[in-house]
Amino acid sequence: MRNVTAENITDVFTGYLGEDTDPRVREVLTSLARHLHDFTREVSLTHDEWRKALELMQWAGRITTPERNEFVLLSDVMGLSSLVDMVNSKPDVTSSSVLGPFHVSDAPPLAIGGDMRKDFDDEVILVEGHVRDKEGNAIPGATIDIWQTAPNGLYSSQDPDQDIYSFHGLMTADENGRYAFTTVRPVSYTVPSDGPVGEILNAAGRHPWRPSHLHFIVSSEGHRNLVTEVFAADDPYLDQDTVFGVRDDLVMHFVPQPAGSFPEGFELSGKVEGDYSRVDFDFILARE
Ligand code: BEZ
Ligand code: FE
Repeated sequence: MRNVTAENITDVFTGYLGEDTDPRVREVLTSLARHLHDFTREVSLTHDEWRKALELMQWAGRITTPERNEFVLLSDVMGLSSLVDMVNSKPDVTSSSVLGPFHVSDAPPLAIGGDMRKDFDDEVILVEGHVRDKEGNAIPGATIDIWQTAPNGLYSSQDPDQDIYSFHGLMTADENGRYAFTTVRPVSYTVPSDGPVGEILNAAGRHPWRPSHLHFIVSSEGHRNLVTEVFAADDPYLDQDTVFGVRDDLVMHFVPQPAGSFPEGFELSGKVEGDYSRVDFDFILARE
């Protein structure tokens, strides 16, 4: 096509696709081009704006490493990661939420009732619940991969003073699908904002904060892997998560417990004399 115009360029693009193109590739690319072209026409994108966007992408490429993926972060703050989660969600099961860049593979096993705090001696939080299917049946032996920030707001991979497995643990639910552990109360923290994503947030007048949360990947054969996060109900950023991860069913409540009531069956049993808080949270998995 030699008479390409601002009006026909999307059709020309589609016409250039090969006849044998995989139908799904055709559908996705055609729609992507249509939205990109519509967007460009709608805002009358200038050369300077187009160049700036490409420079930001280049910068993202330069700083992306296995430990820090600026493109994933861009997807997160644009709401794309959460939207992909939501359009692929199943009804009546626990919502999924962003994985984030700080998961560590091969976390050390954490026994039921184990303590995640290790070197940090903060307030004790007891987290307990069951893994079930949507009919309410227990899922025995489900795997629960747990991670969170230390009280300083840093994940282990961001903090040279922490062991890489600090605040990471891999638990196996018991025959009733029960899991339980103790940890410290998670804190709100900021996503990395010293790169292009920070520049975009700044330009948009947005803050980089996430409400305090615990991360989980819950898995069991025959069920869909659940990648999710659970958020503190009283966190000031609960309604303004910069990566759009909060869902109604992912809110946990810390219920204060009186001194002297810490239960048996935990690594810390007999060691917690003062107040502590308790969270009850069940995970509902979809069948594969
Ligand atoms: C996190 O929760 O760990 C996270 C998610 C998205 C971007 C940065 C961090
Ligand atoms: Fe996180």
